[in-house]
Amino acid sequence: MKIPFLTKKDEQSNIYYAEGTIPDHVAIIMDGNGRWAEKRGMPRFIGHKTGLATVVTVVKAAVKCKVKVLTLYTFSKENWKRPKPEVEFILKLPKEFLHVYLPDIQANNVRIEVIGNMEGLPAATQEALQYAIDSTKNNDGLQLNLALNYGSKQEMLQAMKRMFTDLVDEKVFLDQVDEEQFSKYLNTANIPNPDLLIRTGGEKRLSNFLLWQMAYTEFCFTDVLWPDFSEHEFKLAIEEYQSRKRRYGGL
Ligand code: IPE
Ligand code: IPE
Ligand code: MG
Repeated sequence: MKIPFLTKKDEQSNIYYAEGTIPDHVAIIMDGNGRWAEKRGMPRFIGHKTGLATVVTVVKAAVKCKVKVLTLYTFSKENWKRPKPEVEFILKLPKEFLHVYLPDIQANNVRIEVIGNMEGLPAATQEALQYAIDSTKNNDGLQLNLALNYGSKQEMLQAMKRMFTDLVDEKVFLDQVDEEQFSKYLNTANIPNPDLLIRTGGEKRLSNFLLWQMAYTEFCFTDVLWPDFSEHEFKLAIEEYQSRKRRYGGL
């Protein structure tokens, strides 16, 4: 699909871009790892492990496209309901991922952040993440947010409780409370709202991801399972985004 106002061509993929219509913030629900493995008669954890390479591919694609913020849904609050061995396996992956790919991430001038509750993660995972956060904090390229042990409803409740405390302590006053003020209490304070959400794996739901922040986000769903998602698929999603008309309730 070629759209007339798109002018910049990526030679590898033959896809056209316009600088101005690249989404600043792309959020991704990386889904379908388990099914990818099951389809091949392999245990689910192989799917999770294979999905790590996709993460770095997509980070690089986002850097190339000049996306400013990339937020990846890595482990949800509800994922604790899974069998313990799968949970333990998934929660060890960030360390493994950083061990292999942190140099690559550094070389791409990417800054890593975590949104979610770090304190609920295994100590070794927390340490690896904290090291990655600290050692990339001066990078001024893509901001990569890992949504880990993250749930949007829980985030909003936490924010509300913190705001109530500030109200009681008279650090904030009721008539100051508006959307902007409330947003400052969320884990995403200072991060612009996602412009584009991509969900792989065929499901068409938000699964408790960034509910407040995605009130006017454009959604792109693909049946491709996360380990099969590629730079090409990422660019197709950007292209779909570029064809959308964002009205925000206006005309
Ligand atoms: C996404 O893949 C990864 C996490 C939720 C951590 P799934 O594990 O949900 O894979 P499917 O949806 O069962 O195929
Ligand atoms: C959403 O995927 C969470 C992540 C990708 C981290 P799930 O596989 O957990 O979502 P549901 O259960 O299908 O809604
Ligand atoms: Mg899933």
